[in-house]
Amino acid sequence: MSAGKIISEGYKNHVALLQKHWDNALQAEGYDAALIHAGSKLVSFLDDYEYPFRCNPHLLWWLPLTHHHDSALLIRPGERPKLFYYQPDDYWYSPPADPASWWADEFEVVPVRDANAWKQAGINERTAYIGDAPALAEAVNSSQLNPARLLNRIHLERTRKTDYEIVCMAEAARLGAVAHMAAEQAFREGMSEYDIHQRYCMSIKMVDAELPYGNIVALNEHGAILHYQQHEQQVPDQVRSFLIDAGATVHGYACDITRTYATETGEFSDLILAMDTMQQRLCAAVVEGLDYRDLHLRAHLDIAGILKDFDIIRPSAEDAVASGLSAVFYPHGLGHYLGLQTHDVAGLIADVDGTPIPRPEGHPFLRLTRTLEAGNVLTIEPGLYFIEPLLRKWRESGDVSAINWGKVEALAPYGGIRIEDDMVVTKGAPRNLTRDAFAAL
Ligand code: GLY
Ligand code: MN
Ligand code: MN
Repeated sequence: MSAGKIISEGYKNHVALLQKHWDNALQAEGYDAALIHAGSKLVSFLDDYEYPFRCNPHLLWWLPLTHHHDSALLIRPGERPKLFYYQPDDYWYSPPADPASWWADEFEVVPVRDANAWKQAGINERTAYIGDAPALAEAVNSSQLNPARLLNRIHLERTRKTDYEIVCMAEAARLGAVAHMAAEQAFREGMSEYDIHQRYCMSIKMVDAELPYGNIVALNEHGAILHYQQHEQQVPDQVRSFLIDAGATVHGYACDITRTYATETGEFSDLILAMDTMQQRLCAAVVEGLDYRDLHLRAHLDIAGILKDFDIIRPSAEDAVASGLSAVFYPHGLGHYLGLQTHDVAGLIADVDGTPIPRPEGHPFLRLTRTLEAGNVLTIEPGLYFIEPLLRKWRESGDVSAINWGKVEALAPYGGIRIEDDMVVTKGAPRNLTRDAFAAL
């Protein structure tokens, strides 16, 4: 069966479940209805050009309307959800196509020409309004706009993906894996970052604005800039290494994949292999009931062990973690929830009150502190980098003798290593969407 058919078959159950989640959440928080607004196009200052549109993820949870600004969905417990489908009579821009039956059949669809047609639903104080469209903020009472407890309830539900969502993400992983292969090939052919990026976009048939996040396409030392955003058009004199962190979306659902390559075998390629083996061990540990913070700390210990094995640092792995030395080389979190948002919601809260689950001390960038449950989708993305500002800081205020500076100098021109896969937590063995996608090519 085609991916499209599997997706559309799972969709009916997905919508039925969302109806239940929203009915329960509205009842628990004392609302009669919710109106979810897709969002409006924002225009740049003193101009009439618009920023790329990103649909409200709460609307995308219900509907695959990634490009549809100003549509809105009215949810009332016990009733078929009503979609105000914004389809302007326009000749400046092409209006949205007519609704497709695979999703439209689950809704009462009302095509509207007026961007404010959602107001026909009747503004009332027992309706919650979800979104950031300026028109919402102007029309409704601020206490009804994005009520925190209601959103926390929904965000916690969003952490457990439905079969439909997992199929979308598996398909995104497949597209991502194909494009990653094309990018690796472009790197092997000696192309610039810019040309590798173009090759990636051509392979996936998406323009930048459709990707879940800006592609990180980094040759050599650029790999040490965690969210490196340039696409350099010049090929460096000597190409040593390549780090690519690039995704794809299917009906708004993201994949988030990173791979690192070396041009030649040697110490850096050995380091990549060691990181890859370690990353796969971490992936295998993603089981229901695991406190993700523990896995993040284990990654620190493992990376410190690799640094020690390669004679890059001198203290034991335990001491390197305790002193903060491991964070000089690995300064980000192990991963995050993934879904409609690359950094998906509710990674740091315990309950509907939004009570924070604290990060381990000294780990300010960890984005996921929860205990894992079946249905969670998350990334595992350990890294090891030679980051000049962090090394300089250690040299100025840390134990200078803890680092083998000669080794650092030799490896810094390679930038760094990150390997990132997308994992589904199940009742049994975890599912690695990324490795499965690469293996199926
Ligand atoms: N691509 C962004 C991240 O890995 O979190
Ligand atoms: Mn990630
Ligand atoms: Mn990433």
